[in-house]
Amino acid sequence: MHRAMVFQSLFLLPLLLLFSLTTATAKRLHTIPRLSPIGPRVWLDHPDQILGESVREDFETFFYNQTLDHFNYRPESYDTFLQRYLINSKYWGGANASAPILVYLGAEAPIDGDLDAVGFLVDTAVEFNSLLVYVEHRYYGKSIPFGSREEALKNASTLGYFNSAQAIADYAAIIIHIKKTLQAKDSPVIVIGGSYGGMLASWFRLKYPHIALGALASSAPVLYFDDITPQYGYYALVSKDFRGASETCYQTIRESWEEIDEVASKPDGLSILSKKFKTCNPLTDASELKNHLDSMYANAAQYNKPPTYPVNKVCGGIDGCGFGDDLLGRVFGGLVAYKGNRSCYVNEPTNQSETSVGWRWQTCSEMVMPIGYGNDSMFPPDPFDLKAYIEDCKSLYDVTPRFHWVTTYYGGHSIRLILQRFASNIIFSNGLRDPYSSGGVLENISDTVVAVKTVNGSHCLDILFAKETDPEWLVAQRKTEIKIIKEWINKYYADLSRF
Ligand SMILES: *[C@@H]1O[C@H](CO)[C@@H](O)[C@H](O)[C@H]1NC(C)=O
Ligand SMILES: *[C@@H]1O[C@H](CO)[C@@H](O)[C@H](O)[C@H]1NC(C)=O
Ligand SMILES: *[C@@H]1O[C@H](CO)[C@@H](O)[C@H](O)[C@H]1NC(C)=O
Ligand SMILES: *[C@@H]1O[C@H](CO)[C@@H](O)[C@H](O)[C@H]1NC(C)=O
Ligand SMILES: *[C@@H]1O[C@H](CO)[C@@H](O)[C@H](O)[C@H]1NC(C)=O
Ligand SMILES: *[C@@H]1O[C@H](CO)[C@@H](O)[C@H](O)[C@H]1NC(C)=O
Ligand SMILES: *[C@@H]1O[C@H](CO)[C@@H](O)[C@H](O)[C@H]1NC(C)=O
Ligand SMILES: *[C@@H]1O[C@H](CO)[C@@H](O)[C@H](O)[C@H]1NC(C)=O
Repeated sequence: MHRAMVFQSLFLLPLLLLFSLTTATAKRLHTIPRLSPIGPRVWLDHPDQILGESVREDFETFFYNQTLDHFNYRPESYDTFLQRYLINSKYWGGANASAPILVYLGAEAPIDGDLDAVGFLVDTAVEFNSLLVYVEHRYYGKSIPFGSREEALKNASTLGYFNSAQAIADYAAIIIHIKKTLQAKDSPVIVIGGSYGGMLASWFRLKYPHIALGALASSAPVLYFDDITPQYGYYALVSKDFRGASETCYQTIRESWEEIDEVASKPDGLSILSKKFKTCNPLTDASELKNHLDSMYANAAQYNKPPTYPVNKVCGGIDGCGFGDDLLGRVFGGLVAYKGNRSCYVNEPTNQSETSVGWRWQTCSEMVMPIGYGNDSMFPPDPFDLKAYIEDCKSLYDVTPRFHWVTTYYGGHSIRLILQRFASNIIFSNGLRDPYSSGGVLENISDTVVAVKTVNGSHCLDILFAKETDPEWLVAQRKTEIKIIKEWINKYYADLSRF
């Protein structure tokens, strides 16, 4: 119930907020589509997202007294906050057997949603005899510094501790604490994450090899920084997905933007559009509608998962002409097909989710993924504008995004050359229909830094709960991942008995 609210608002609200600050310049908003293993909870995927709720009772909740600032020794660095993590020991082979520990690294959301959806750990627990741990990311859910969310999000001084380096240092401290408490010094740890959390998992393995034996990084766009990945990759893939589903659908969407602008420019145009799209409130600008549609198409592509395949649903609505066969009628048909029958659409009143608020800070400080719109897409061309992006962030927080910090701190350039001899035991998994796969590692780097990809997969599918309806290629992807992780663990046990 809580999550329904969280996920419905995810693109829309950050867009609107930035919008109000950039109305003078913005034809298109400078936002980075959020990353998350779980898509928006539209009616289409409702059934599979509550699958995990029955396993909740096997988890016990703990709070770790976490250090606010791992990297400085100023008095205020020693402040602490309580960080939430959950443990399931039902399947664990125990410390004496040095049985494995699988740790899910939380991302930009409260951990509750992940417990319900990210089932890879539970599904494989019997096979691995593993202890299961889910850790919440700082500044989300119940893991809030400074006593309250209001204080923590107050300004750049309190938000300053909200970054990925602090987050993975938190994870290191908690894993060490758990191993110590359970006297499980020799138990190998595998970290798992999806999306932004997938990036954290792969970076964790690189920075903390003494704590994690390996990482499963699902749909982690670690190369969507600086200029490593062409900035048009994301929306080119969104467009490719739609074109693959239906050429006429793709063409309709492509032509619709100009049509929207044209209608909007007429006297009374906005009220015509408001009526046509049954908006919840009268539109104040055509971009409100366009941004909403843009987010919907991106979401449908990113979370284009079986068995419903939202892209096919949207295109079914567009091609089905249930609301008239004019351009806008068809586009509205796509909206209804995606969202279901509602009393109104587009600008529903919603509260800002924690994810939109937190992720906006993260993208304004270090997670700058330059995403633009190129020529060969179904969207109007619109290159990423770093200058405008920086201005938006400065007006929001009075800080300048550190555009190069991620690649400075974690690398990314020439990844194959750099990692082939340095790194080991990382799986980069991707579904090639996921627009974020354009910034993923798609080729094998070495024997143990590998890419496991599926041509028809979308965002983070492999780490979600297994389902009866899963297609063969998804079952096979998970099997491959399990086999690879088992090899790491077996090699580790061989080493352990030798040393
Ligand atoms: C957390 O640690 C700090 C510093 O050691 C201590 O002052 C504080 O009481 C601890 N808080 C809890 C809840 O244990
Ligand atoms: C683990 O090993 C220790 C020391 O050999 C022993 O005392 C303890 O009973 C064992 N625990 C279990 C659960 O087997
Ligand atoms: C942020 O808020 C705190 C507490 O009110 C204040 O002490 C600090 O100066 C503020 N920092 C900035 C950058 O405004
Ligand atoms: C939505 O309403 C239309 C017409 O009123 C109906 O044909 C369709 O089945 C409804 N769809 C859903 C998902 O309820
Ligand atoms: C937003 O939050 C307020 C306060 O918690 C609540 O009363 C209201 O119903 C929420 N609105 C929506 C649209 O969820
Ligand atoms: C679009 O294509 C033209 C001609 O091929 C090229 O000059 C221009 O740079 C392209 N623009 C973008 C945004 O890719
Ligand atoms: C990379 O190696 C793994 C393990 O051998 C294999 O399953 C996978 O198909 C390879 N990936 C690519 C992209 O070649
Ligand atoms: C991917 O999907 C397409 C179209 O639905 C289908 O033709 C193709 O066989 C699928 N490929 C794989 C590897 O499953």
